[in-house]
Amino acid sequence: MRLLGFVSLVGSIVGATSTALSANSSESDPLQGLYALVQRRIPSHAHSFTFSFTNSSDSELDTFTLTDAVNKTRAIHVECNTVSACSRGLYTYLTEYGGVDIWWTGSRLDQLPAPLPAVKTAVTRSAIVPYRYMFNTVTFDYTSAFWTFDDWELMLDWLSLRGVNLPLAWVGFEHTLVEVFREYNITDADISGFLSGPAFQAWNRFGNIQGSWGGDLPTQWIDDQFVLGKQIVQRMVDLGMTPVLPAFTGFVPPAMHNLYPNASIVNGSAWNDFAPQFTNDSFLEPFDPLFAQVQQSFISKQQAAFGNVSHIYTLDQYNENDPYSGDPSYLTNISAATFSSLRAADPDATWLMQGWLFFSSADFWTPERVEAYLAGVPGDDDGSGMLILDLYSEAQPQWQRLSSYFGKRWIWCELHDYGGNMGFEGNFANVTEAPLAALASPNVSMVGVGLTPEGMEGNEIIYDVLLDQAWSSSPINKTEYAQAWATRRYPADELPECAIEAWQTLAATVYSNTDPGSQATVKSILELEPALSGLVNVTGHHPTHVFYDTNTTIVPALQQLVQAGHSTPSLLAIPEYRYDLVDLTRQLLVNRFIDLYADLLAVYNTTSASSASVSAAGQPMLELVADLDKVLMTNENFQLSRWTDAARSWANGNASYAAYLEYNARNQITLWGPKGEINDYASKQWGGLVGDYYGKRWAMFIQYLEGSKSNGTVYNATAIAGALLDIGEQWSQSTSAVGARDTMVVGDTWLVVQEMAGKWA
Ligand SMILES: *[C@@H]1O[C@H](CO)[C@@H](O)[C@H](O)[C@H]1NC(C)=O
Ligand SMILES: *[C@@H]1O[C@H](CO)[C@@H](O)[C@H](O)[C@H]1NC(C)=O
Ligand SMILES: *[C@@H]1O[C@H](CO)[C@@H](O)[C@H](O)[C@H]1NC(C)=O
Ligand SMILES: *[C@@H]1O[C@H](CO)[C@@H](O)[C@H](O)[C@H]1NC(C)=O
Ligand SMILES: *[C@@H]1O[C@H](CO)[C@@H](O)[C@H](O)[C@H]1NC(C)=O
Ligand SMILES: *[C@@H]1O[C@H](CO)[C@@H](O)[C@H](O)[C@H]1NC(C)=O
Ligand SMILES: *[C@@H]1O[C@H](CO)[C@@H](O)[C@H](O)[C@H]1NC(C)=O
Ligand SMILES: *[C@@H]1O[C@H](CO)[C@@H](O)[C@H](O)[C@H]1NC(C)=O
Ligand SMILES: *[C@@H]1O[C@H](CO)[C@@H](O)[C@H](O)[C@H]1NC(C)=O
Ligand SMILES: *[C@@H]1O[C@H](CO)[C@@H](O)[C@H](O)[C@H]1NC(C)=O
Ligand SMILES: *[C@@H]1O[C@H](CO)[C@@H](O)[C@H](O)[C@H]1NC(C)=O
Ligand SMILES: *[C@@H]1O[C@H](CO)[C@@H](O)[C@H](O)[C@H]1NC(C)=O
Repeated sequence: MRLLGFVSLVGSIVGATSTALSANSSESDPLQGLYALVQRRIPSHAHSFTFSFTNSSDSELDTFTLTDAVNKTRAIHVECNTVSACSRGLYTYLTEYGGVDIWWTGSRLDQLPAPLPAVKTAVTRSAIVPYRYMFNTVTFDYTSAFWTFDDWELMLDWLSLRGVNLPLAWVGFEHTLVEVFREYNITDADISGFLSGPAFQAWNRFGNIQGSWGGDLPTQWIDDQFVLGKQIVQRMVDLGMTPVLPAFTGFVPPAMHNLYPNASIVNGSAWNDFAPQFTNDSFLEPFDPLFAQVQQSFISKQQAAFGNVSHIYTLDQYNENDPYSGDPSYLTNISAATFSSLRAADPDATWLMQGWLFFSSADFWTPERVEAYLAGVPGDDDGSGMLILDLYSEAQPQWQRLSSYFGKRWIWCELHDYGGNMGFEGNFANVTEAPLAALASPNVSMVGVGLTPEGMEGNEIIYDVLLDQAWSSSPINKTEYAQAWATRRYPADELPECAIEAWQTLAATVYSNTDPGSQATVKSILELEPALSGLVNVTGHHPTHVFYDTNTTIVPALQQLVQAGHSTPSLLAIPEYRYDLVDLTRQLLVNRFIDLYADLLAVYNTTSASSASVSAAGQPMLELVADLDKVLMTNENFQLSRWTDAARSWANGNASYAAYLEYNARNQITLWGPKGEINDYASKQWGGLVGDYYGKRWAMFIQYLEGSKSNGTVYNATAIAGALLDIGEQWSQSTSAVGARDTMVVGDTWLVVQEMAGKWA
């Protein structure tokens, strides 16, 4: 085992970054993309910012210096050693001096005051790590599956300003892959049979699933995503980021067996409860000579389409998909051949992999096997061959167990959200102190921090703080952070103290979660299939156990925020304020639902219970579901129709294509598979979904319990499951004509939130 020193690790990174940056520098100023960002987001101050590169770079890490410009007509100057550092310098000014920010819910940077506040004393800061990474392969489905370039533009500006320099860039992958498969004489029918639907591509890319339920992936989708992907990658480069691009992983259509009978093609393992038709993907083993040829074809085609903009490739062969053999020499052969195929196609290639498997399949991935797998990538070339995402570092870090990945470089990542579920949760200490402690540990090969959420739904503060920590060598103070964060989230002449107290309350409680059993976003039982047992107090993956007391956390925070709106009505015009009101009310209601459910069970389980008493106990639950739907419907960010409309919009008016896209969108957030294979994994608290779907399920369940009391039928879980699946299939297949599309924003957030807070607090 050989551990690499920190300095030698950095050398290769600077090389990699500057290669990407110089892609176009001969014909254009690399800072042009940043000027364009200023123009786009702060047009009234478009000429107030200048950027320049320093001549001397004594720091190998990204560094910026913020000063007042000498020339008064151009007020603020940022000097830096990379575009990303300049962008972070700009962000530092905008947030810390200008009091404005850009959020997932929109950019408010245009509210920068005039005249601009002065910097006075120059501020110099450096990143603590070379890489700031963003995205999980599955974020591309749980969150951005149907995004347009406008959505991407907001996210990329959000990333760039926060100093992210290494974002994942999957969009458009299938176009290149199809061209490669065609070159290898696989028929279009066989290719179609392999690719998965628009809302499920990540798991096809991972080799977990194949094929598309509800109809084959249309060529139109592949072509449109290709156009979008090129725009995204270009923008990433313009903003000084190095896109992490896909490569050929080895997963191929089954027809490859027949065309190349001598090639070593093995069947991957079955994934979850999917029928063989949709899983057991064929895997071309990398040591077969065909693999390197396909890799060469893929990378050259991708480079022709996207430009020579990056040498970092995402490549996952065993995500929730165990290797054909656990023999260490087999594993070394696989990775050695995979890596040499990359280097043959691109001599500067770096292989980036998600480390999720080392946690999720920890029984298979013993330290011995991990060491063998990583050993296939040579370690004698300064370690630049590999980058591993320690995917869930805030709760289940693997780097200690695996001896800092045996010297391979790795990135400390915050996962936090499974399936784009919604629920307040986080721990400041775990994303501020913990990454610093990791970085300071002896012989560690950590080279970055990153965000790898499966989906992005709320809890924005807990993501923000990690990207801020990447620029601070001492741990960020939770109390001070919450205050500053709330102050710029609700820009007001005089923000009432109670608004800040609301966030202090949350920071000290739901964002200081130390319960090891309830990590990552806590799921609400309201979104799960109704049942008599198994819903409440689940710990581990997808916990439902609420680790805090709602009465002393969510309730006072909501009341404080409402009080702020009463004393400063201008807050009501701030979209983030309205978002937070809905978010807190949402949490209050779903937590109260647990108590109502317990009441129902208590009644049902007494032998003397009548149909009427069960009905009376079920009534408040249905009322709460309706109330939750009502509050969610007041805000565009909490609506099913936003998701389904985004899906449909890619059809440009073609009705059958729109219905196909909507089925994908609806199926992902409900049944997740044709028959509920990973039912409710990606559930959401969205207006339209809550009322029309979860409401229907609970109503059916309660009615069933009532019936069983009136006619003495014994509770039959199988019968219930069948009836619930019917509801799911019907709901997935319905289209917005009968669903939520015609119900855009309904009702006023301010009024409905107060009504619900009064009723349920
Ligand atoms: C390089 O810049 C030109 C315009 O300055 C642009 O048209 C082209 O797309 C850029 N290419 C890459 C690979 O960035
Ligand atoms: C950059 O180099 C030029 C010429 O060598 C020098 O005049 C200037 O002062 C330098 N700027 C900085 C910030 O070091
Ligand atoms: C200040 O900047 C403006 C705009 O770039 C330029 O026209 C002007 O000449 C500058 N003045 C001085 C004193 O440098
Ligand atoms: C595909 O088929 C054509 C025609 O039979 C053949 O010339 C070519 O070599 C095949 N391509 C590959 C990669 O096998
Ligand atoms: C497969 O291997 C056998 C035995 O080595 C050989 O005879 C045959 O020609 C090969 N077939 C193909 C398609 O390469
Ligand atoms: C998270 O923080 C808690 C204390 O706040 C600590 O007990 C726990 O070990 C931390 N977990 C990780 C993975 O850092
Ligand atoms: C964080 O800041 C608050 C307010 O400034 C202070 O009272 C507290 O002691 C600080 N906490 C730590 C751990 O430094
Ligand atoms: C009610 O009865 C069911 C089935 O017998 C059991 O699983 C469940 O734990 C009971 N719940 C309560 C709250 O007693
Ligand atoms: C869930 O846990 C809480 C305490 O954490 C407890 O009060 C409650 O009874 C539990 N509910 C069930 C159904 O086990
Ligand atoms: C929380 O408040 C509700 C409503 O006032 C009350 O019914 C419940 O008992 C309280 N729960 C706890 C744990 O104090
Ligand atoms: C008896 O109740 C069960 C459970 O609600 C229901 O499925 C069944 O249809 C009822 N049977 C009759 C004859 O009403
Ligand atoms: C439960 O329901 C299933 C499906 O409807 C049925 O096949 C089974 O016979 C039922 N079990 C009992 C004990 O009634």
